[in-house]
Amino acid sequence: MVLPRRRGGHNHHPCPCPCPRRAVLPAAALLLLFLLAAVTLLYVSPPPLSDHPALAYSRRRSPHALLNSSGGGSLVEPGRREISRVPKGGWIATDGLWGSKLASKFYGCSNSSSKFLDSGVMTHPDQYLMIVTSGGLNQQRTGIIDAVVAARILNATLVVPKLDQTSFWKDASDFAEIFNADWFISFLSKDVRIVKELPKIGGKLWAPHRMRVPRKCTQRCYLNRVLPALIKKHVVRLTKFDYRLANRLDSDLQKLRCRVNYHALRFTDPIQEMGEKIVQRMRERSTYFIALHLRFEPDMLAFSGCYYGGGEKERRELGVIRKRWKTLHASNPEKERRHGRCPLTPEEVGLMLRALGYRKNVHIYVASGDIYGGAKTLAPLKALFPNLHTKETVTSKDELAPFSKYSSRMAALDFIVCDGSDAFVTNNNGNMAKILAGRRRYLGHKRMIRPNARRLYSLFLSRGNMSWDAFSSKVHMAQKGFMGEPKELRPGRGEFHENPSTCICENTDPKTPTKPNPRSEQGLSNGTEGIKAITEPTVANHTNEELGGSSAEEDDTSEEKEDDTSAEKEDGASEEKEEIVDPEVEDDALVRPDDPELEEVLSD
Ligand SMILES: *[C@@H]1O[C@H](CO)[C@@H](O)[C@H](O)[C@H]1NC(C)=O
Ligand SMILES: *[C@@H]1O[C@H](CO)[C@@H](O)[C@H](O)[C@H]1NC(C)=O
Ligand SMILES: *[C@@H]1O[C@H](CO)[C@@H](O)[C@H](O)[C@H]1NC(C)=O
Ligand SMILES: *[C@@H]1O[C@H](CO)[C@@H](O)[C@H](O)[C@H]1NC(C)=O
Ligand SMILES: *[C@@H]1O[C@H](CO)[C@@H](O)[C@H](O)[C@H]1NC(C)=O
Ligand SMILES: *[C@@H]1O[C@H](CO)[C@@H](O)[C@H](O)[C@H]1NC(C)=O
Repeated sequence: MVLPRRRGGHNHHPCPCPCPRRAVLPAAALLLLFLLAAVTLLYVSPPPLSDHPALAYSRRRSPHALLNSSGGGSLVEPGRREISRVPKGGWIATDGLWGSKLASKFYGCSNSSSKFLDSGVMTHPDQYLMIVTSGGLNQQRTGIIDAVVAARILNATLVVPKLDQTSFWKDASDFAEIFNADWFISFLSKDVRIVKELPKIGGKLWAPHRMRVPRKCTQRCYLNRVLPALIKKHVVRLTKFDYRLANRLDSDLQKLRCRVNYHALRFTDPIQEMGEKIVQRMRERSTYFIALHLRFEPDMLAFSGCYYGGGEKERRELGVIRKRWKTLHASNPEKERRHGRCPLTPEEVGLMLRALGYRKNVHIYVASGDIYGGAKTLAPLKALFPNLHTKETVTSKDELAPFSKYSSRMAALDFIVCDGSDAFVTNNNGNMAKILAGRRRYLGHKRMIRPNARRLYSLFLSRGNMSWDAFSSKVHMAQKGFMGEPKELRPGRGEFHENPSTCICENTDPKTPTKPNPRSEQGLSNGTEGIKAITEPTVANHTNEELGGSSAEEDDTSEEKEDDTSAEKEDGASEEKEEIVDPEVEDDALVRPDDPELEEVLSD
């Protein structure tokens, strides 16, 4: 160990510990020791602007060094040292840790306009739409939401969606075991007719005509592709139904999306009750709590192509997993990290939160799957925030038993707790993060922190050479626009599920903060001009990358683009802009083509 010796070198007082040999140490040797210590000091706490390659290397690794599961390696030290630099009580607490001051000016508005006809007059009596969702719980949720809208576009009756029971997530639950089916049907009855089972049509049971629509299929695309089949075959089943509806739709259809997502989709009572019980237990521990959705599973990490500091062992282990997917390109960890595409490590999340002003005594609920490296990986986070909880720690085994064998039910519990938290934090940009982000905006702009990984990356690299206060203030800067404040995102920016701007209205009269603004609600009979609620963003100019998608240059998405553009071409190249695939959404790193299993791993 070097550190103690260094201290010894500086210490001119007699050593408190019994060390008789030191007394007889010649002065020259002491001097030598001092010099040695000075040199060591240079290496241990790197001075500004040192470009020694070895230093740069070790610094680059240090943020992740604690992942070295063999432990005790020399790389582990720098990480520990960083943590020890974090002030004990936390930095000066900033305002707004638990909510936005501006939130009360906004409210969710998803009522339909007067032009929106009742399903009773629209629904064609003998046309049925069936869909099969795909992926994990939250990816499936997007499919369910869009299925309702697709049925509405087609004037068809929707059969309660079939869940994906064969995905990577392996959950045999059906719709009614996750969601309250009766509520779903009755809440939406004016919008879309929904039935539980496909009935006989004209006394006959029809075999569904199976087909798939392209990703981001627009209203026109549904009418061109699906309607003819529906008319001819009466029953159409759309498979692998996720992200199959355009991001941009007219405002009444967007509002329908919000009604489904935020009102019609409720978990079953047992799930809801258990979830609320967990929230309540968190509240018993502290007034406010953070929920952290931590995706750090081996598969996820392998896919990311990033390096997390675990050395050869990590490279080997993740490499083996990576080989399972032939569609993956060779990884370029540095590039991925530079572009902000690597999920933050638990340690990085902890540092970010402390830098933002959350104190050490804050309670954090961690929603996660199997964390790569397990407790060892979580240790640095625990050092920063000792009060970590999971659903396993705040409930008993018996209480969890009805859920624990079903990944979707477990995910639903996490969803409820994250939803109920005072501040929601993610280390990733997956479906759950996006859906909860949108939901928190809709339900009153509850605090929601999504790391600006691209900017934080360079801060984590250089934090060894700045004071804690400087680091903290830079983190504040980097996170501007990523804190869940109102108007953070321009309307239309990002996935609709994460930025449901059509369904968020602004109250212009400060005296009546909760009363809906009649102009906003009524005005929407006017198609796209209707809602002017969300106009100028206060924090603008996110790049695609910062939004968590990938940049256009990214090679990995090219296959998907080709896939979709060729599909679009069938519709005729002269179709208007509507048919053009929304590039922001297509760039989404988490929706990739042609490898179902891969997609499933990434979902949620
Ligand atoms: C939406 O409609 C419901 C029921 O029709 C009504 O109670 C509610 O006040 C409406 N909300 C807004 C914001 O107009
Ligand atoms: C659905 O019904 C509405 C109202 O009757 C009609 O305007 C629209 O063309 C119908 N669309 C389809 C696809 O049948
Ligand atoms: C991990 O720790 C072991 C044991 O201390 C060490 O031999 C190895 O070099 C370390 N690897 C990395 C990359 O940190
Ligand atoms: C050290 O910090 C300074 C200023 O804070 C920064 O400009 C510089 O790039 C940092 N050096 C390294 C190697 O991170
Ligand atoms: C729609 O908006 C335009 C321009 O704002 C206005 O002239 C028109 O009357 C509106 N139409 C309806 C149906 O509200
Ligand atoms: C952000 O966008 C606005 C409007 O497009 C523009 O005026 C402004 O200069 C941009 N700011 C930056 C930093 O790019």
